Amino acid sequence: MNGTLRPVGIIGTGSYAPPRVLTNFDLEKMVDTSDEWIRTRTGIVERHIAEADVATSDLATHSATAAIADAGLQPAQIGLVVVATVTPDTLFPCTASLLQHAIGATKAAAFDVLVGCTGFVYALAAAGAMVGSGAYEYAVISGADVLSKFTDWEDRRTCVLFGDAAGSVVIGPVEAGRGILSYSLGNDGDGATEVLSLPAGGSRLPASAETVAARQHYLKMVGQEVFKFAVRAMVESSEVAVRRAGLTMEDIDVAIPHQANLRIVDAAAKRLDIPFERFLRNGDRYGNTSAATIPVAMDEAARAGQIKRGDHLLLSSFGAGLSWASMVLRW
Ligand code: ACO
Repeated sequence: MNGTLRPVGIIGTGSYAPPRVLTNFDLEKMVDTSDEWIRTRTGIVERHIAEADVATSDLATHSATAAIADAGLQPAQIGLVVVATVTPDTLFPCTASLLQHAIGATKAAAFDVLVGCTGFVYALAAAGAMVGSGAYEYAVISGADVLSKFTDWEDRRTCVLFGDAAGSVVIGPVEAGRGILSYSLGNDGDGATEVLSLPAGGSRLPASAETVAARQHYLKMVGQEVFKFAVRAMVESSEVAVRRAGLTMEDIDVAIPHQANLRIVDAAAKRLDIPFERFLRNGDRYGNTSAATIPVAMDEAARAGQIKRGDHLLLSSFGAGLSWASMVLRW
């Protein structure tokens, strides 16, 4: 899969969530919902919410700094900074540019990847190839989102689902047989904006008094359509990625699925021939943190000793686009 590229793997991880916790019981006081509905439909119990003056790059800075320390590097050794986000601090400059400055990666190139919840795996694949080519030695990849700022807190169908967080990894050259082994990325743009989008604020529908009054600056989603797509996309892309790595599902030691909804994780786990207990689940404590779910779960598991050297990892995600991405790595 990697062709002539040198092997590249994850050599450091970090994660961060803002301290304020919003429970399902708090949400009961805000919209017509219940702890029971949220838990049984999504598995979510609580989520972290950023303060008013905290933006995506702030969360990413905490997680990237931790990842660089975990890798035993100095920020100036980082040659490339990539941020996967759909909630950039500003439309431009890109959030990676702000992160590059904040972490002191003074010599780094920087760009964003805007592929919704799937963005982290896309960013890891792209940056992996750039480091694999030898153009860069070390790269920071952050999945960071502050969806609470783009959530309609009057819409119970969406506001109960999301939380804020950031997860980062540092990648660099590793010995043969380790690191990124394969991936399967894809997208189906047919009808994408009707199913999952943030309609206004871009060039199609620039911000105006009318767009604000129509609440078009908030995330819109047809949940059931996303659900159906999600399970199929995760299963099919996982199968392709595992096959491309020359492995079978039995070889997967740890599966890290996008934590949008624990029912989706369970449905995907059931269809893939991977024992249930090998699937990491932390969505109950964070909700759907978009591009951050996979690197946050990865960092927690790595620090808890749940991922061991030599383990085969399967990452699998889906999101706006509608997009999907699965990747196999050897730790
Ligand atoms: N509390 C109480 N009732 C609710 C709530 C709520 N928070 N939200 C919806 N309901 C009601 C609905 O109004 C509906 O009532 P009705 O039958 O009287 O009309 C009923 O519950 C059922 O609604 P559904 O939408 O059919 O519920 P469903 O079982 O599909 O669960 C959910 C909804 C949780 C959103 C599910 O469809 C889902 O998880 N979809 C996937 C979403 C996802 O993964 N998104 C990720 C992408 S996000 C990104 O990329 C940025």
